[in-house]
Amino acid sequence: MVCALPYDERLHPDTRAFLHNQPKRLLIAGGWVAAAAGRTFDKDDPATGITFASVCEGDAEDVNRAVAAARAVFDNAHHPWRRMTPHDRERLMHRLADLIEANREMLAQLITLENGKPLTASEGEVAASARMFRYYAGWPTKIEGDVKPVSIPDRLNYTLREPVGVVGAIIPWNFPLSMIAWKLAPALAAGNCVILKPAEQTPLTAVRLCELVQAAGFPDGVVQLINGFGETAGAALTAHPGVDKIAFTGSTEVGKIIMRAAAGNLKRLSLELGGKSPHIIFDDADLSKAVIGAAYGIFSNAGQSCNAGSRLFVQRRVYDEVMARLAERAAAIKVGPGMTPGIEMGPLVSREQFDRVQSYVAAGLEQGARLRAGGARPPNAPEGGYFLAPTLFEDVHDDMILMREEIFGPVLAATPFDSIEEVAARANHTPYGLAAGVWTRDVSRAHKLAALLRAGTVWVNCYSQFDPASPFGGYKQSGFGREMGHEALELYTNVKSVWVGL
Ligand code: NAI
Ligand code: MG
Repeated sequence: MVCALPYDERLHPDTRAFLHNQPKRLLIAGGWVAAAAGRTFDKDDPATGITFASVCEGDAEDVNRAVAAARAVFDNAHHPWRRMTPHDRERLMHRLADLIEANREMLAQLITLENGKPLTASEGEVAASARMFRYYAGWPTKIEGDVKPVSIPDRLNYTLREPVGVVGAIIPWNFPLSMIAWKLAPALAAGNCVILKPAEQTPLTAVRLCELVQAAGFPDGVVQLINGFGETAGAALTAHPGVDKIAFTGSTEVGKIIMRAAAGNLKRLSLELGGKSPHIIFDDADLSKAVIGAAYGIFSNAGQSCNAGSRLFVQRRVYDEVMARLAERAAAIKVGPGMTPGIEMGPLVSREQFDRVQSYVAAGLEQGARLRAGGARPPNAPEGGYFLAPTLFEDVHDDMILMREEIFGPVLAATPFDSIEEVAARANHTPYGLAAGVWTRDVSRAHKLAALLRAGTVWVNCYSQFDPASPFGGYKQSGFGREMGHEALELYTNVKSVWVGL
């Protein structure tokens, strides 16, 4: 049963109206429709556990319909989307960015209601998503082919950069709007059709975004929305022969399932998967900044970030001091419902994620890691919510589960180190390779380590910096393909070589 939330009166009238109109439907071929099978699923509030929304549950048949609609657009050379000039595509994308900004309060509230993160963080996510669409709005007029200097007489050879076609975008729940923007913006800039499959934990922000896509004036069938579960709707999308590409962000485990499923028609793939990123503090670092950076790296978004700095290596001379300061910082973080002003960390996204993270804390204790802060529900946390205090384990050995597996919660595993060679080897001792952080005042050491670390992003004297212009993606089992920057356009375009006899 869908119930009112305890902060109902704090919601923007638009948010209330949006929630009033339920269940939230799927967007197929320009129409908001119920699922073919007529099923719905419930959505709960991570801060209270209260079910507050009902969502139509798409499945293989809905995916079939969406793919057919997308193909009808993409495969028709006369369709307005296929004939649209780059300049007009740019205009549409700016209009969408304008609408995101105009709806920022409501979008931020939806993110907080479904994900749990503090409202200020959601506001940041909305602003960043609008910027993503603006950045890629600049690209349609700049995606170029070139003329090749071939050595065959009387032959002209040039390249065209064309959209790949129908893109399935499978989205995680940790950044319900950003993760859509990272995929949708470059895909649209390049002229593709996109079918979105949001995470079942965060279906609502995606519904509102798709309403804005329609309001911006994108033709029907260019962007479609299938809410539903991974094993059904997600799997149907990845296996569908009418889908040309899958862009996925989520667990490494599901990334491997998707890779197998995509083999049927050799879909193009980009996979942004898990991480166990090392955060390295040298004894010459600005320690106050490094401690704030280390805490931010693991506790922001309650640790539910693929790039979370979840392994902390601290040079021995400053180890005790850093541990003391970090424990103090962890204890000071204000944990509570994301809708409450002044909150710094919200609950985990779901009961399932809460249980998963708790089981890692228990496994850490069992293996003998020393708990220095957190490790349980914060004492004042509201009943019913999925709250876990910022947690710090110290003296964690490299082979303990806390150092090996992606926890995806506010749990930091710390260990001392001595030399740069040692820390590089230990930092790289993981199947993942998404990101890394380095704090030092020694310029040559910083650059030496940046080169040694096998990670798609290295932050020096900062952490978790993102910009639409800068590519992001993984080494090793953190996946492949780079999102953002001009690099992302490679994911959403094909190169055609044209030969002309003169
Ligand atoms: P997940 O990888 O199962 O879910 C991510 C997305 O994939 C969701 O939209 C889901 O519906 C979809 N999906 C699931 N199974 C699928 C399948 N067989 N075929 C197609 N799509 C499928 O992640 P989950 O279960 O929510 O979280 C488990 C762990 O995954 C987390 O604890 C965390 O370690 C990791 N994770 C990593 C993320 C990242 O940003 N790299 C994001 C979310 C989770
Ligand atoms: Mg899963």
